[in-house]
Amino acid sequence: MDFDRIGSSTRRVQVRFVVIPRGVRFKVEPHPEDKQCRGYICENYGALFRLPDLGPIGANGLANPRDFETPVAWYEDREGTFEQVAKFAGNLWSCEIEHSPLDVVAWHGNYAPYHYDLRRFNTIGSISYDHPDPSIFTVLTSPSGEAGVANCDFAIFPERWLVAENTFRPPWYHRNYMSEYMGLVYGQYDAKEEGFLPGGGSLHNQMSAHGPDLDAFEKASNADLKPQKLEGTMAFMFESRYIIRPTKFAMETSQLQPEYFEVWQRLNKNFGNPK
Ligand SMILES: [Fe+2]
Repeated sequence: MDFDRIGSSTRRVQVRFVVIPRGVRFKVEPHPEDKQCRGYICENYGALFRLPDLGPIGANGLANPRDFETPVAWYEDREGTFEQVAKFAGNLWSCEIEHSPLDVVAWHGNYAPYHYDLRRFNTIGSISYDHPDPSIFTVLTSPSGEAGVANCDFAIFPERWLVAENTFRPPWYHRNYMSEYMGLVYGQYDAKEEGFLPGGGSLHNQMSAHGPDLDAFEKASNADLKPQKLEGTMAFMFESRYIIRPTKFAMETSQLQPEYFEVWQRLNKNFGNPK
C-alpha cells in the first residue's frame, strides 16, 4: 500500500498495492521527503494471487485486468557496496556484493511484479435489500484446494454508495471459518466508530464472533435509509483459511488494545417479549 500523501488530499494520489512474486529481487526507496515507508505486508506461502472467478457477474467488474500495471524493463550499471537480503527457511540472510543486483539486462517471461490502484476497483453491492457475501469485495485471491476457503483473499472496502432498504447496512455480526486481518489505509471503517485508525490492524481468527461496535450499531439502527455515500475511506482485509498467530511483538506492543472486546459488551438485548 502506498501511504504517501494520505489525508485531506487522498483523492489526488494513487492508493496502490504491489505484488512481488516469490524470489524476485527488489529494493525499497523511501519517499525523499518523508524518508520512511509505511504499509501493510502479506507474505503469501500459497498459490499465486489471481483475480477471483466472477461467476454471474460476468466478464467485467471488481478489479479489471486492464488496471493492473507492470514495470517497464530497466536496469542499473552501478558498482559499489550493496547489501543483498534474502529470506530462506524463515530467516533473513544478507551478503555484500560489489555491484548493483539490479543489473539483469535481458529477461524473458511473464513472472513479473505488478501494482494496482485500489480506487480503480469497480465495487458491487446490494441495490435491493440485505448483504451479498463479502466476497464481492475480493481484489485478488490465492486459492486453496477447496473452493470458498482461500489460502488468502485480499479484499477492500472502498468508497461506495449504500442503498439497501430495510437492511442493517454495516457488516453483519458473524463468526466464520476464515481468519480476518483488517487494516485501514485512510478514513473511517463503517463498523467501527472508535479505536481503528489508519495504520492499525484488527484480527478476528477463525470462529471468533465479531461485528459492528455499539456506536456503529446504534447509528445504523436509527439511520434514515436514504442513499448514503461512504466517502474518504479505504479499509482492507487479508482473509485466510489458516489461523493467524500474532508475533510476540504484536502481543506485547503498547498499542495493543486489550479492552477491545468491550465494544460489544455494552450492546443491549433487543428481543421483545414473544406474544
Ligand atoms: Fe468478518
